[in-house]
Amino acid sequence: MKSRIYTVDDLQRQEVQRDIQTTFQRGGNVVFPTETVYGIGASALNQEGINGIYAIKGRPQDNPLIMHLVDTTSLEEYVDVDQPYINTLMERFWPGPLTMVFTKKEIVPHYFTGGLQTVGVRIPGSDVARKVIAIAGVPVCAPSANISGRPSATLFKHVLEDFQDKVDILIDGGKSEVGLESTVLDVTSDTPVILRPGMITYEMIQEVVPSVQMNQEVLGEQTPKSPGMKYKHYAPKALLTIVEGNKDDVVAYINQQTKQHHLENQRVGVIVTDDVKHRFIAKHQFVIGRLDQDAEIASNLFAALREMDTLDVDYIYSLSFHQGSYSEAIMNRLLKAANNRIIKVN
Ligand code: TXA
Ligand code: MG
Repeated sequence: MKSRIYTVDDLQRQEVQRDIQTTFQRGGNVVFPTETVYGIGASALNQEGINGIYAIKGRPQDNPLIMHLVDTTSLEEYVDVDQPYINTLMERFWPGPLTMVFTKKEIVPHYFTGGLQTVGVRIPGSDVARKVIAIAGVPVCAPSANISGRPSATLFKHVLEDFQDKVDILIDGGKSEVGLESTVLDVTSDTPVILRPGMITYEMIQEVVPSVQMNQEVLGEQTPKSPGMKYKHYAPKALLTIVEGNKDDVVAYINQQTKQHHLENQRVGVIVTDDVKHRFIAKHQFVIGRLDQDAEIASNLFAALREMDTLDVDYIYSLSFHQGSYSEAIMNRLLKAANNRIIKVN
């Protein structure tokens, strides 16, 4: 198969719109940008297209997909909006990087819900994403566009790495603005529960729904309620270790490890912030942003992990990132990528 590649401007052209629409309707797949990460989409109403997503990503069948809508007009055709706080959340955070998990109605096909009676729904903030869903004319299921286990795609080159000539249509929307996947919030009971942290933070939700809880599994204390959380995630090929502590000790530790690995002819990459970038002896460095700019760090995190794969290093050391309101989501992804390997040096 040869993928057809379109730019955002191409979406204005009628023959491109027709191609996108028929591809969705015939059970094909379309990779498109959203404000969080790229998604690999299929019509929610076409089982062949959904099967395509699972097959191409190598995604386990029990991991459900989230459904993307253009707006809330048709929401209640698919799900029960039965908690009084849901409307407030929708008004405040939609369109945007928030996925809400509702009790599904019968009409929602079982083939993408992983056997659950619930379904995650999101109205993306990205105009381009909403344009694609509008062209599709159906709800669009879209997991993050990455081969299962790899870091999510936040640049079009990541999309090409994973999906060129494996997916019918790839839409180039440049860099994803947010860079981490949406916050997943269970809204099926009288207190909403965060299943996956994201840019819509606990504090932001708490402002409008004071009773909001953080799922124990996110805190690492329980078996996953969100099926996707139990799988290996975001993992680069090399062994990733997070090093935490005071700045001088962290630099010293990473340099000492690097020296050791070099003696063994191993390649080392480091993920560092702007303020300390000159202090590392490792040849391969990814400067992820400024220490106090959490939004910048979030938007570059997956690119950093993928870059390390491209550089073919054997060991990766990363600083930890605890400043700013996005740090919870950043550290959630980074810890998964590191399989919880974290060293505290002071
Ligand atoms: O930002 C995003 O959410 C991106 C863009 C493309 O919209 N999509 C995304 O999808 O990250 P995915 O499939 O990679 O992650 C969805 C997460 C998974 O961890 C999945 O297990 C969980 O949401 N999830 C989906 N449906 C669920 C449900 N009914 N109950 C609990 N968790 C659910
Ligand atoms: Mg994903």
